[in-house]
Amino acid sequence: MSRLADEKVLVLDFGSQYAQLIARRVRHQQVYCEIVRHDISAQRIKEIAPKGIILSGGPASVYETAAPKCDPDIFSLGLPVLGICYGMQLACEALGGEVKNTPSREYGRAHCTVTATNDLFADVPEKSQVWMSHGDQVSSVSADFSALAATDTCPFAAVKDRELPIYGLQFHPEVKHTEHGSKILGNFLAKVCGCKGTWRLGDFAEETVEAVRRRVGDGRVICGLSGGVDSSVVAALLAQAIGPRLSCILVDNGLLRKGEAQSVIGEFTDHFKTDLHVVKAEDKFLQALAGETNPQEKRRKIGHAFIECFADEAAKIEDAHFLAQGTLYPDVIESGGSQDGPAATIKLHHNVGGLPEDIDFELIEPLRDLFKDEVRELGLQLGLPEDIVWRHPFPGPGLAVRCLGKVSKTRLDTLREADAIVVEEIKAAGLYRQTSQSFAVLLPIQSVGVMGDARTYEDAVAVRSVDSEDFMTADWSRLPYDLLARISTRIINEVSGVNRVVYDISSKPPATIEWE
Ligand code: XMP
Repeated sequence: MSRLADEKVLVLDFGSQYAQLIARRVRHQQVYCEIVRHDISAQRIKEIAPKGIILSGGPASVYETAAPKCDPDIFSLGLPVLGICYGMQLACEALGGEVKNTPSREYGRAHCTVTATNDLFADVPEKSQVWMSHGDQVSSVSADFSALAATDTCPFAAVKDRELPIYGLQFHPEVKHTEHGSKILGNFLAKVCGCKGTWRLGDFAEETVEAVRRRVGDGRVICGLSGGVDSSVVAALLAQAIGPRLSCILVDNGLLRKGEAQSVIGEFTDHFKTDLHVVKAEDKFLQALAGETNPQEKRRKIGHAFIECFADEAAKIEDAHFLAQGTLYPDVIESGGSQDGPAATIKLHHNVGGLPEDIDFELIEPLRDLFKDEVRELGLQLGLPEDIVWRHPFPGPGLAVRCLGKVSKTRLDTLREADAIVVEEIKAAGLYRQTSQSFAVLLPIQSVGVMGDARTYEDAVAVRSVDSEDFMTADWSRLPYDLLARISTRIINEVSGVNRVVYDISSKPPATIEWE
């Protein structure tokens, strides 16, 4: 049996914004975890044979008629169950308790007191801070349940069935504001589910390499390289699996960050020694973009030019039967693409596009079980340099959507230099990994300045740096003033044609991360 499947925990997703976070926290404890639809049948769960089940939170109220429910038979499978927030309310209600909307409800931080000794709270202090986020609470439990912890306004902050291994938490152990959340989750996994923590990325890599070898046989795989971490890790993994039968294509569209193409080319030719095809297409993209100022049109034209370049180059590679893509687990979940996974959520996905659907290749997606942080770790294990592995995400249309207004070689060069300074200074301040995305934007306006005795009328650059868990929401990074001052001085001194730098202090929503 695959080592991956040795110990598996399922998260039933009731629409929680935290479902993926729960799964990541479980995997951090070396237990493989998958997200499945909330109404998965007890029979199917039995076939999967997990060590335990976690019922996620969710925005609904269990007493509403349309509230998402689980198959009630899952409570009699004998498997350990941990209900979190809505999941707890559901379990308690299904087993004879009552749930009510509470006027004195707690949102955010609350103080929790453990009231009964129990495995779930082993080595957790009697009093600690937890994170609440629901208007409903369990108001009474059946005689089968006993309370394990309480807060000032919530007598059932944690409960346990007296006989069965069924637990509930009104608060969220998965969010970092719950002080001992990972200890509580770890206790559930180790002490209640009996997990030993056998999930290792190294094993995953070995198994995936083997699986790719078997599937590809004597065939050839094409892999598009973008400079980003996902495609680089896919290519590194495939290089290990099939070496010379991997052909990579890098479309150098002239819209990449400073040094990005060179670093990828260096890595995949010198280090991984792959058959790398670099399509030098800067002129083609600049021509396609000439005079265009509409952001969606820019994206469309870039997408179109990319497909042409990629397809032309791919056609030159003989005997290629497979196409590798850097699809990650969140993409799979959000597009409803896994067998037991939740239905597709409505999300505007930027990373779609790129290649046409009717492309005549079999897809290979070796990262489709992994979260981003795991992809990074895997990249390091495969020998990719930190510079590539920790690179901030970058939009497919590249600098074109950060060069507001018309895109030209001169304006792109100005932006590239300013952007490199932003990244360099943030790295030098040791803040690159703490921020999620940091970059420069070239604005379509000039303003008056003064240099020496002369009046200038030059471009303005906006600096954008955000902190984000999932890029669906983001807050602007509170960068130190000194750092901002260094960035501003260097851009104005070193990048000709720029006389003003501003810092973007908008959060998402209502602003977006990119300006276009
Ligand atoms: P926004 O600007 O919508 O960005 O807050 C959220 C995340 O998506 C990236 N992004 C894109 N990625 N093609 C991509 O591949 C695009 O057209 C695109 N637009 C935005 C953005 O950099 C951020 O990480």
